[in-house]
Amino acid sequence: MPTVLALETSCDESAAAIVRDRTLLASALASQVEEHARWGGVVPEIASRRHVEALPQLIAQVCLESDVALADLDGIAATVAPGLVGALLVASVTGRTLARLYAKPFVAVHHLEGHLCSVQLGEPLPPGPYLVLLVSGGHTELLRVDGPGRYLRLGRSHDDAAGEAFDKVSRLLGLAYPGGPAIEAAGREGDPSRFALPKGRVSRPEGGYYPYDFSFSGLKTAMLRQVRALEQAMPAEPLPLADLAASFEQVVAEVLVERSCRCARDQGLETLVLVGGVAANRRLRALLEQRCRRDGLAWRVAPLAYCTDNAAMIGLAAAQRLVAGQTSSLELGVGARMPLEQADRLYEHPGCF
Ligand code: KG4
Ligand code: ZN
Repeated sequence: MPTVLALETSCDESAAAIVRDRTLLASALASQVEEHARWGGVVPEIASRRHVEALPQLIAQVCLESDVALADLDGIAATVAPGLVGALLVASVTGRTLARLYAKPFVAVHHLEGHLCSVQLGEPLPPGPYLVLLVSGGHTELLRVDGPGRYLRLGRSHDDAAGEAFDKVSRLLGLAYPGGPAIEAAGREGDPSRFALPKGRVSRPEGGYYPYDFSFSGLKTAMLRQVRALEQAMPAEPLPLADLAASFEQVVAEVLVERSCRCARDQGLETLVLVGGVAANRRLRALLEQRCRRDGLAWRVAPLAYCTDNAAMIGLAAAQRLVAGQTSSLELGVGARMPLEQADRLYEHPGCF
């Protein structure tokens, strides 16, 4: 039962957590969202500086809350890819320094493997394999998961990630950053069927469509056209933000859930798992549940508190790797991009990428 300190600084949340095997002992987070909101998106330089300021305090806090001293740990973990390089370096350098100081194994973690593990912070999973719909600010992927490191990507977005579409449409509607929670709040009382919006499809060169792939750029343009048309038709009226937001959320949820359920059925996978920042969306969670029930699929959704970035999920991923005897080189760097299918490379010795 390894006890692991996990650090996460891949984007705009600084986070630390201590897990013991599959149990979360303490989790702390310092969000920078308000500061980035002023600029309408994440400013990488600001993110790195705030991580440097926040991380030591967060580490002290989780040690205190869990009553675990750094010397008692079995491993120290940090997210090393993918993400903003300057931001990733903060957790990676801190983690590797502590590992060297306390002579502990260092466990590098792929951020998306962390998101996959976030579902384990809730109800236990039925036996796998699973189909995972991973929807975050940077990724929209359908993955067959057979176990740690055994991933097969079956679907993906060809342009914007789902969370990115929320963020861009939020800006278009004059709402806040990050867009997901802002659109969700604006659309709560709205009519989701008022505006007909396109379910972007990706055509195959040989004809037909990729059945499990996504495209959100056409939807973004359709929202822009709709807003312009409303402004022209009713220049004196405020935009019907609630209906626009609800209609947008609805079509995104439908596209994600319909293609996921179809993929699960076609591939003979009996459990659908929803993770990532966009998994916090209530309309999406409710539709997934409804369609899985209808189609006879089991489903699991990451707990609301662990959908967006956090270190608890990174700790679970690291503990799994440690149990499997996998540790990382102290020479390992960080990477802005790295497909999840290559996560095993983080445990090759000696390894640099
Ligand atoms: O997983 P995450 O915290 O960071 C990445 O790894 O990208 O996801 C952040 C994304 C943002 O695009 C944000 O707008 C979206 O998740 N998001 C939501 C909601 N909460 C966060 N999207 C829809 N509904 C939400 N409630
Ligand atoms: Zn994330």
